[in-house]
This record gives sequence, C-alpha cells and structure tokens, in this order.
Amino acid sequence: MANLPILRIGKHTPKYPIVQGGMGVKISGSRLAGAVAASGGVGTIASVGLACDHPLFDGANYFDINEIAMGEAVKAAREAAPAGVLAVNCMTALTDYDRQVRSACAAGVDIIVSGAGLPMKLPEYVKDFPDVAIVPIVSSVKAADLIVRKWGKQYGRLPDAIVVETPLYAGGHLGATKMENVTDMAFSLEAVVPDLVKYIDGTLKADIPVIAAGGIWDRADIDRALEFGARGVQMGTRFVCTVECDADDRFKQAYIDASPDDVVVIMSPVGIPGRALRNSFVEKYMSGQVESKPCMAACLSHCEYLKSRSTFCIAQALVDAYQGDLETGLFFAGSNVVKCGKLDTVAGIFGELVG
Ligand SMILES: Cc1cc2nc3c(=O)[nH]c(=O)nc-3n(C[C@H](O)[C@H](O)[C@H](O)COP(=O)(O)O)c2cc1C
Repeated sequence: MANLPILRIGKHTPKYPIVQGGMGVKISGSRLAGAVAASGGVGTIASVGLACDHPLFDGANYFDINEIAMGEAVKAAREAAPAGVLAVNCMTALTDYDRQVRSACAAGVDIIVSGAGLPMKLPEYVKDFPDVAIVPIVSSVKAADLIVRKWGKQYGRLPDAIVVETPLYAGGHLGATKMENVTDMAFSLEAVVPDLVKYIDGTLKADIPVIAAGGIWDRADIDRALEFGARGVQMGTRFVCTVECDADDRFKQAYIDASPDDVVVIMSPVGIPGRALRNSFVEKYMSGQVESKPCMAACLSHCEYLKSRSTFCIAQALVDAYQGDLETGLFFAGSNVVKCGKLDTVAGIFGELVG
C-alpha cells in the first residue's frame, strides 16, 4: 500500500485525499458530511432540495427556505467537525444556483463543488469569500479547458481542483449528453485523468490537483486512480450504506438488496442520463408510462417535465427516495451499489481505506 498523497484544495487540506461526493436530494446532508469531515475526508453537503422537509417550507417559499436550510446544514456539519474540511455541492442546473453558492459561502463552507453543467460563473458568485475553494466536476479535458479559459479570461482565476467523474460507473446524473457516451471508454478515468494531468502540467503549467470519481470502492481502486495521476478520489455510493447517511433506512436497504440487474441508466428530465436502481417507478418510466407528482418548485433551469410534462418531476421523485418510498422514489446509485452488503460506519470505511 503506497502512502496517500496530500490533497490541497485552495487553502484547505483534509487529512486524507478522500472526498465524499455530494448526493442529493439530502442523501448527503449535514450528518454524513459532518461524519466524513470528522474522519479526515472532505464531507460534502448536496445543496439540491434542502428545503424539502424543512418545517418552514410551505410549498411556495422553496428558494427562501433553501437558503435557511443551507445555513443550518453547514452549521450542523461544522459542529460535528470543527476542524474538518466541508464542501457544498451546488449543481449548475439549479434555478437558484447563485443563491445556493452564496448562502453556502456565507454559512462558512470551505469548498464549492459544481457539476451538472459547466459552472462558468462560479468565480463571480464566490468573489466575496476569498477562502472558499472552487472545484468544477467534468468528464472530459474539453470541458475542463472551456472552464479554465472562461475563468482565466473573465475572472483571472483557476480551479482549486478538478473532479473527473466517469459516467461508466458513477451514480446520479452522468457527465454524458447521450446514452451511447455512458459506456464509451474515452470517458474512463484511465483515459481522462492522465490527459487532464498532462493538460494541467504541460499546457497550463499550473498546480491543480485532479480528483477521480466513479466506481471507487476500496483501497485498490484508490491506488489505481492515483497511478493514473489523480491526487485524490471522490466516492458516493460507498458512503450511502452508512449509519450516518442522511437517507431513510429503506434507501440504504434498497442498496443492500440491489443485484446487477437492478442497476439501470435512464434519461433524466434534466436531459442527461442518470444511473439509478430499478423499481416499479423506473420500470413504468422505461416502458413509456409517465406518472408524476406535481412540480415541486421549478427548481431546474432546464426541465423537460416543466416544459412538456413528458417526463416526471425529478426533485419530487428524489425526495420520495430520500424518504424511503419504494413505489414513487428515484433511487440514484453508482454501479458499485451491488457491493453494498451491510450497513457500515463512516469511521469504519475510513479505517479500511487508509489502513
Ligand atoms: C444517490 C446519489 C446522488 C447523487 N447526487 C449528486 C448531486 O446532487 N450532485 C452531484 O454533483 N453528484 C451527485 N452524485 C454523484 C456523486 O457525488 C459521486 O460523484 C459519484 O456517485 C461517484 O461515483 P460512485 O458512486 O461510484 O462512488 C450522486 C450520486 C449518488 C449515488
């Protein structure tokens, strides 16, 4: 087992180069993120839908309550890990993206991680918070280059790290616009990470750590990602089956029960593929029957459901999954879900990963 490298993200250095990926809606809330940060990794709160079960949410004040819930979530995670490194994952595709970024920064988070589109204006939203590091999620060198060029030209700023997430294995929305790209080896970590490192070292001549995500489960996976040139990893699925994960126990049980046939990739109402577990809701959707609860809050800047009612309200389906509703919920999961055999603790996982 090689020594783990130091992962410095802007002004923040976690004890271990292990980032827990943001998982919405509320799968990675303050409890999971706080526990990961306390164990020496980067704990990440997913910003999407934080208002959904907040006592002040009345159905019409979603965006205002999101801001309040963000402040509360960051505060709770910080209390669990006063000296830990905390991130908030804000998806570019959200209607209140800028507000979410600003409220996370105001609440004292260390890092903003942004994917689900290219976070072209992120430096503008964090400009009043010089200690906050900014980290885009990409699936290709081309996407990284577009961000780097825009940030450099317009804001004179480089990313503090870059997450490369491969659509081959990751859970949730995937960095591929077309279904056929999901299994394209051109988007594998072994293809993209070395090329991105070469681009950063050779073309940019900069010091930007690359973090590999998608399909990382154990120490051997981490060591392999480091061999490709990554300086850290981001893991999602592995952290779901933990006592500390914020989801309902039935969400975790669905992971424990999952077999390879249960892992499917669907076209999401956001217009990109997403990896999830097969259940009756997903089966109906895949066979062309559209059943949806009403739109929760117009939370996405591009939503097929809002436009044409031809799909479903993904926010509501993800909230239902977080609350453990096996009939109406959309259970996002990475392909490693089949390896979840029991409930772990975050400290137990770290003990295994860092030896
Ligand atoms: C249940 C679930 C929800 C997710 N939600 C988000 C999200 O809100 N934003 C995001 O950028 N990535 C999201 N992801 C992706 C993870 O942050 C992570 O990058 C990915 O799952 C890594 O792959 P792995 O699950 O194989 O470890 C989600 C993943 C899962 C499993």
